Amino acid sequence: MHVAVKDKTTRHHIGYGKVILFGEHFVVYGAESIVAGINEYTTCEISRLKHKPNVVEVIDERPAVPGYIKEKREEQRVAHGLVLRHLNIDTSKDGLLVKLGGPLVPSSGIGASASDVVSLSRALNELYSLNLSEEAVNRSAYAGECGYHGTPSGVDNTAATYGGIILFRRALKKSVFSSLALGKTLSIIVCSTGITASTTKVVADVARLKAAQPSWFDDLFEQYNACVREAKKALQSGNLRRVGELMNINHTLCQKLTVSCPELDAIATCCRTFGALGAKMSGTGRGGLVVALAANTQERDRIAKAVREQCKEAKFVWRYSVQPGGSKL
Ligand code: MEV
Repeated sequence: MHVAVKDKTTRHHIGYGKVILFGEHFVVYGAESIVAGINEYTTCEISRLKHKPNVVEVIDERPAVPGYIKEKREEQRVAHGLVLRHLNIDTSKDGLLVKLGGPLVPSSGIGASASDVVSLSRALNELYSLNLSEEAVNRSAYAGECGYHGTPSGVDNTAATYGGIILFRRALKKSVFSSLALGKTLSIIVCSTGITASTTKVVADVARLKAAQPSWFDDLFEQYNACVREAKKALQSGNLRRVGELMNINHTLCQKLTVSCPELDAIATCCRTFGALGAKMSGTGRGGLVVALAANTQERDRIAKAVREQCKEAKFVWRYSVQPGGSKL
């Protein structure tokens, strides 16, 4: 029974964007991943649509890359339905008008789907006075992510809920995570191919390959585990040069897993040529993003400019700083 239902939310509710620094796809099979929440986010406001039973209307004003919102609309409808069901929201009398906005530019790899369902869960929390803890918001967003991803590991919604740098793994169907103390600020460049990928399809392809060639997959999985073990230490001690090398190794493992593509490979090579300490694809792959690490903010800005001007595969280039601390965990 909901105590007090408001007509509309009184503030914007947010979910952070993210980039996976280590471990996309391997994380689906229980490996540890390292993810960075970024300081751009999606906002959600909701008002009740009086006497419009079972209507959930979405006004999506997020500044997405071309094609993204249309391509994801059906998955979004399913995802929002799953969040409503998870939170036992009854729309049989009044429907809902959901308005999404905020500075995060939705594109494959940046955690747009997770930031959507986190911000939605937070807004529903206010509208229906649900009194959700952060953990409950994260669980609700995980339920929503199943609409976007099929079988999500939970890494994206956890980053979208808490922000900061997070060590994450899925164990016995539960999300296990903690914040990672960085030795130094990370200056990163995020480059989008502008290609929207389907996480459900790419994750399913990896599952098929793994089932067909288990020892091939196990070998890559072991190499990845060694890589992330070292990456954790390098991030903690602030050894950025080693972090960059390990990002390059992680990219090669993604190529072997067949989740990279020519555009991602070209962008990663460009970033390294222009002086990045390392570069790798990030997120689903076969489109989406490359994340590159720079030695400091000046280098980051210089590399971003060069990539923007000279790398035709990089359709959008963003710059971020990930500070030590910064997680709500
Ligand atoms: C997508 O951002 C990350 C994947 O590892 C899927 C997941 O973890 O749910 C590809």
